[in-house]
Amino acid sequence: MNLKALTQSVILNNGVSMPIFGLGVWKTKSGKECTDAVLAALEAGYRHIDTAKIYGNEEDVGKAIRESGIPRNEIFVTTKLWNADQGKGKSRKALEGSLKSLGMDYVDLYLVHFPVASKRSDSWRELEKAYHDKLSRSIGVSNYTIRHLNELLRDAQITPAVNQVEFHPFLNQKDLLETCKKNKIQLEAYSPLAHGQKTNDPQIAAIAKKYGKTPAQILIRWSIEQNIVVIPKSVKKERILENSQVFDFKISPEDMGILSELDENFRTCWDPTDVD
Ligand SMILES: NC(=O)c1ccc[n+]([C@@H]2O[C@H](COP(=O)([O-])OP(=O)(O)OC[C@H]3O[C@@H](n4cnc5c(N)ncnc54)[C@H](OP(=O)(O)O)[C@@H]3O)[C@@H](O)[C@H]2O)c1
Repeated sequence: MNLKALTQSVILNNGVSMPIFGLGVWKTKSGKECTDAVLAALEAGYRHIDTAKIYGNEEDVGKAIRESGIPRNEIFVTTKLWNADQGKGKSRKALEGSLKSLGMDYVDLYLVHFPVASKRSDSWRELEKAYHDKLSRSIGVSNYTIRHLNELLRDAQITPAVNQVEFHPFLNQKDLLETCKKNKIQLEAYSPLAHGQKTNDPQIAAIAKKYGKTPAQILIRWSIEQNIVVIPKSVKKERILENSQVFDFKISPEDMGILSELDENFRTCWDPTDVD
């Protein structure tokens, strides 16, 4: 276990420390599959778990964390506000519901899952209040484009700490990354393995071979090299371990350049570009 490396962190705009690497649990089945995956990750040294109400496994995440015996304050937990819970009078209740499911008093990061038109501004105001009431140590957004961020920044009292978006060499959102950096918003990469659809790409395979690493490890390291938080998902113990072994090598600037040219606007998840 390489705990020191796995807790390499970024500091968010409110001073909260967030491990740069974590486990995602979307599509991880509720019950044993989820508790086993989270326990395997914690045993491998992960200290950051990314869930959401809509994943239907918050209870399992909370249960596994308690079973691990690791103090709650040593683990960074993110969950998200689902679309149906957005808007005035609903968002805070949704967070309280998630905390109940997780069996926790607070989360480390609460994200607006998607920029739902006509509701997202009200949702953000409720998240700001929930933050002041210490229900979440930080608040942020997900799937926000530059336009959605600019709109939010115009009337927000609190700048989002994080924007969690799909990000990998095949969807290299350079302008979005620049906008986030300029506004001190931490970019977080979801689907960093392009949902497993790019681990056989020949150029990734060639670079992986050069470093004696796997394609998945190259894809994950590509984010870490750019100080981007990254949360690959797996339910397989050996892959959970493999995905974490990304702190014992560096990708050269030349190879980072090659990887950064692979962009083909390839999305595996939803596209928020046209959301009003
Ligand atoms: N905010 C959002 O809207 C949003 C959207 C999507 C994802 N996310 C978050 O980001 C996390 C990660 O994204 P993701 O789950 O979409 O996809 P991902 O991490 O890019 O890929 C997961 C897929 O890759 C496979 N895989 C894992 N490790 C592998 C390895 N070493 N070699 C080959 N294949 C491997 C997994 O299969 P096995 O499980 O069978 O190993 C699974 O099918 C999610 O779990 C979720 O927490 C957030």
